Amino acid sequence: MTNAPSTSSTSSTSSTAAPTGPGTPETVPVAIVPRPARLTRASGAFRLDSATRVSAPDELAGVVAWLQQALRPATGLPLREGSADGTGISFDLDASLGAEAYRLEARPAGVRITGGDAAGAFHGAQVLRQLLPAAVYRTALVPGVDWVVPAVDVEDRPRFGWRGTHLDVARHFLPKRDVLRFVDLMALHRLNTLHWHLTEDQGWRIEITKYPRLTSVGAWRESSQVGAGPDATQDGRPHGGFYTQDDIREVVAYAAARHITVVPEVDVPGHSMAAITAYPHLGVGAVEVGGTPVAEPRQIAVGTEWGIFEDVLNTEQSTVDFYTDVLDEVMELFPGTWIGIGGDECPKAQWQADPRTQELMRERGLADEDQLQAWFIGRLDAHLAAAGRRTFGWDEILEGNGTMSPGATVASWRGMTGAITAARRGYDVVACPDDQVYLDYRQSDGPDEPIPVSIPLTLADVHAFEPVPAELTEDEARHVLGGQANIWTEHMDSPRTVDFFAFPRLCAVAEALWTTEPRDFDDFSTRLAVHVGRLDAIGVEYRHESGPLPWQQRPGVPGRPASREEREAYIASVVANIS
Ligand code: ACM
Repeated sequence: MTNAPSTSSTSSTSSTAAPTGPGTPETVPVAIVPRPARLTRASGAFRLDSATRVSAPDELAGVVAWLQQALRPATGLPLREGSADGTGISFDLDASLGAEAYRLEARPAGVRITGGDAAGAFHGAQVLRQLLPAAVYRTALVPGVDWVVPAVDVEDRPRFGWRGTHLDVARHFLPKRDVLRFVDLMALHRLNTLHWHLTEDQGWRIEITKYPRLTSVGAWRESSQVGAGPDATQDGRPHGGFYTQDDIREVVAYAAARHITVVPEVDVPGHSMAAITAYPHLGVGAVEVGGTPVAEPRQIAVGTEWGIFEDVLNTEQSTVDFYTDVLDEVMELFPGTWIGIGGDECPKAQWQADPRTQELMRERGLADEDQLQAWFIGRLDAHLAAAGRRTFGWDEILEGNGTMSPGATVASWRGMTGAITAARRGYDVVACPDDQVYLDYRQSDGPDEPIPVSIPLTLADVHAFEPVPAELTEDEARHVLGGQANIWTEHMDSPRTVDFFAFPRLCAVAEALWTTEPRDFDDFSTRLAVHVGRLDAIGVEYRHESGPLPWQQRPGVPGRPASREEREAYIASVVANIS
């Protein structure tokens, strides 16, 4: 299936034609995305056939298993293990290449992939798949294709160790099967970190066995806002969904098999209305002065509108304890180093007005509400650090001058101010500035972009993404672990819409994070023209270069576009206390 109209767009025409048929291997386009550090072509080609064998050391059994299941459906070839006669596909390890690096040599006699580690070998296997005809991405037998790999030498290593995508499954629930598909799409682009945004005002998506109401109550809302700005409406339709702990374990294991680490996020102390709905004693005003829980705390509802809301968590020790319980279950499920606790966009009005909160601040010797937020984040950070994990939070965790554990890592989203401040304070940084890599922002300034939000971020804009702020010294810049694109789903109510906003911009972000300079957008565009043939074969409903297709538009649904000047003025006002 393709979403291209029969007239087709210019960007997808070259993708399917060249690699099929008997062909001359030298004329087959080689279009690897993201661009490898070094690629040279040699003469001839390797042909996959029923005799092709795959061999690898035991440590790479998982990579071999992945390659077999990736190539078999379309080719129908068994790709048995074992080296038959010195031909075929062979894997090896050479630690001297470095983490995630690989070397690939394709010749008529076979393909050799050497990984600096298993992840590097896996990236080499992904590149081998990209060297094959795009039809290899289909999931059933494609007859009549000559499965040729043009002879090449590739030497490659990533620029950054953190190459991520943030995925919000809370505003709109993304079914598990679509999360798994998204993981595959990340792996195709050698992205290695999924920042999974699991809780929000509008829904709590992860089963916590100790607190079942988080999902029995908090995973559902009565209606959803349609559009943005003052003319937005409501659809009046219930929405919800959550992942059981078995679902979560499956996603984590599926990602691990693709060398992707999942970083979960449980967002506190703002963006917590779903939790407060489920357990009202978590909210401000749910306890009397002295800390006694109120018999009938104010009952709110899971959010149905998009935005920033004043209902936030209280900062009682009992609320800290509730969340350390939640984090204990989260840590059981997610073995990776980093655990996200959000920290973004927490309005302070309730804390200012609430006598009990003010009393807590006095008891704790805190001068203002920013310090209270830092205190709360600090408690959860200490809990994670004591368990040997590292805290991951939005750049608001720098506010209030709190002391976090040395491993705390800051996601700089309000431009790069957070990245600069965090690095100078000695914290590691993941760059995800909204004005470079927020993939919910509109893709052009054209009138047909669906529910246009904020500034335009074109494919060329995101391809130019630079994660290291020029203001940092070389030493400070070492704190920049990498970057990630952020996908917020207020206006993405289906997996189809996620495809539209994510692709092909995520291909460009992947290149910005993987490929060492120089960045060449024209060269990227030429390769992308072939690469979209792969996306077509998979069934990714990306935005075409010509603009949104009719069914990708949302005529009549209001957005909230902003100019660069408006966006800059807003960001300058909200980052004032971390600059
Ligand atoms: C964010 O965009 N609220 C991190």
